[in-house]
Amino acid sequence: MSGRDTMVTGAAGFGGVPATHPDEVVRVSGVSRTFGRGEHAVHAVRDVSFTADRGELVAIRGRSGAGKTTLLNLIGGLDRADSGQVVVAGHEVTSAGEAELLRLRRGTVGFVFQTFGLVPILSAAENVGVPLRLAQVPAAEREQRVAVLLELVGLGGHAAQRPYELSGGQQQRVAVARALANEPDLLIADEPTGQLDSETGRSIMDLLRAVVHARGMTALVATHDPALIDLADRALVLRDGRLVDG
Ligand SMILES: Nc1ncnc2c1ncn2[C@@H]1O[C@H](COP(=O)(O)OP(=O)(O)OP(=O)(O)O)[C@@H](O)[C@H]1O
Ligand SMILES: [Mg+2]
Repeated sequence: MSGRDTMVTGAAGFGGVPATHPDEVVRVSGVSRTFGRGEHAVHAVRDVSFTADRGELVAIRGRSGAGKTTLLNLIGGLDRADSGQVVVAGHEVTSAGEAELLRLRRGTVGFVFQTFGLVPILSAAENVGVPLRLAQVPAAEREQRVAVLLELVGLGGHAAQRPYELSGGQQQRVAVARALANEPDLLIADEPTGQLDSETGRSIMDLLRAVVHARGMTALVATHDPALIDLADRALVLRDGRLVDG
């Protein structure tokens, strides 16, 4: 079974929500998330609405604590909104059950984190292959797809190296390849360049941009870095949990 098959099987479990137009991949409508109660309540995300289309790289910027990570977690099904609706590739995330959320995280959305999140005892190739194993892709096809993915991120010659034998930029390239393994509709990257020097960070952002445009994917990238925001197709700005202009 290929990643695509998994995704389609997964889709059957969701209440299909038609997009307002065919290229729409993300629709966030009036989403809020509050942590804690009473006087200690933190309104991390407040009434946020936006859409993103296929082939778009959207930067999400805002100061520390503005709600970027919280918003991305709500969109990727890692956390639940208190109110509002999130739809990703026709799947309603906000009302999905646990099994549906698992399918969403494995097939429809790919994640890249600031700290790479690679498994230290696995080689670069084995790390990229993890999502394919979870999707029960047969070994021969898996190896072939992993080789293509490593080539895509410029690490064809580094398949056997473990994370500690790779530079930070190379580790993040492995993480990008892993996030792409199941051909997700949406790539969510939370400060993917936060631990890299500016030149390496730019090369990772260039890679994301190339992948998004070549594959017609959608990416949401939280970043503080103005140089990287320039590489995005557009930027959303969060302030105290709200979307604000520029
Ligand atoms: N699990 C949680 N429990 C309580 N408060 C939380 C939780 N997660 C986030 N918050 C609070 O919500 C607000 C938004 O946090 P968030 O991590 O989304 O910000 P951010 O924009 O990603 O910041 P940074 O740039 O530092 O990563 C902060 O005030 C934070 O303390
Ligand atoms: Mg954050």
